[in-house]
Amino acid sequence: MDWGMKNRLSRIIKPRTGHTVMLAVDHGYFLGPTRKLEDPRVTITPLIPHADALMVTRGVLRSSVNPGSNIPVVLRVSGGTSIIGENLANEGITTSMEEAMRLNVSAVALSIFVGTPYEKQTLMNLSELVNQGEEHGIPVLAVTAVGKELGKRDARYLSLCCRIASELGAHIVKTYYCDGFEKVVDSCPSPIVIAGGPKLETEMDAFKMTYDAIETGAVGVDMGRNIWQNPNPIAMIKAVRSIVHKKHTPKEGFDVFEREKAKRKKKKKK
Ligand code: 5RP
Repeated sequence: MDWGMKNRLSRIIKPRTGHTVMLAVDHGYFLGPTRKLEDPRVTITPLIPHADALMVTRGVLRSSVNPGSNIPVVLRVSGGTSIIGENLANEGITTSMEEAMRLNVSAVALSIFVGTPYEKQTLMNLSELVNQGEEHGIPVLAVTAVGKELGKRDARYLSLCCRIASELGAHIVKTYYCDGFEKVVDSCPSPIVIAGGPKLETEMDAFKMTYDAIETGAVGVDMGRNIWQNPNPIAMIKAVRSIVHKKHTPKEGFDVFEREKAKRKKKKKK
């Protein structure tokens, strides 16, 4: 691997711990103004100091992220569909590699939709992006998307998707946590991060999922709604960080959450 590629990857997956907490705020590219992400700048700004990287589209990057913030950017470059459209899987590449370089990104990201009528199209999107990424030293993160079919998130299906993404050259693979997750990790030669998925019932559920994912070999999370749809997003991301980087247990993560929450409440009162 070339120096530039390695350097960009190390901006995302921190060499000190070998792990990463990416903040996903790219949901609007097919969901529109998602709850609590209506004004992206308001949601993103206070969380930036606590994230290792930001997954975002070029529109929100330019409109809502301070260029001086120095946060590594994982640029979402696939899209062209919407939640009310015919098929979420029918994605194309929306953003050129030249544009990604202009934006000084640390990686580009796209979704693949294995097992759908758009399987070949999205896998060829990945292959083409990897060709361009290799040429310019820009890592590619492949998201094993399931669209509206959240029930697809099982180890057999996700192992298939992750392995194909890795075989086609993805430098990082983003998938969902599931029962038997070690099978997904063990059969995927590329590092894996997990998405949080829709907001879980309790904070503890999110901490347990994070812990179990790290324990079974994920290098980190690329989490969105479980952080910024929580009424205490900073406490949430700090707790997730403690589990990912400090190997805290879910209970220790929860203690971090409660401490941060209390601290912030006190600050507000003053
Ligand atoms: C959408 C994405 C999102 O970035 C991803 O789902 C992560 O966010 P969340 O934790 O809210 O699921 O890639 O395709």
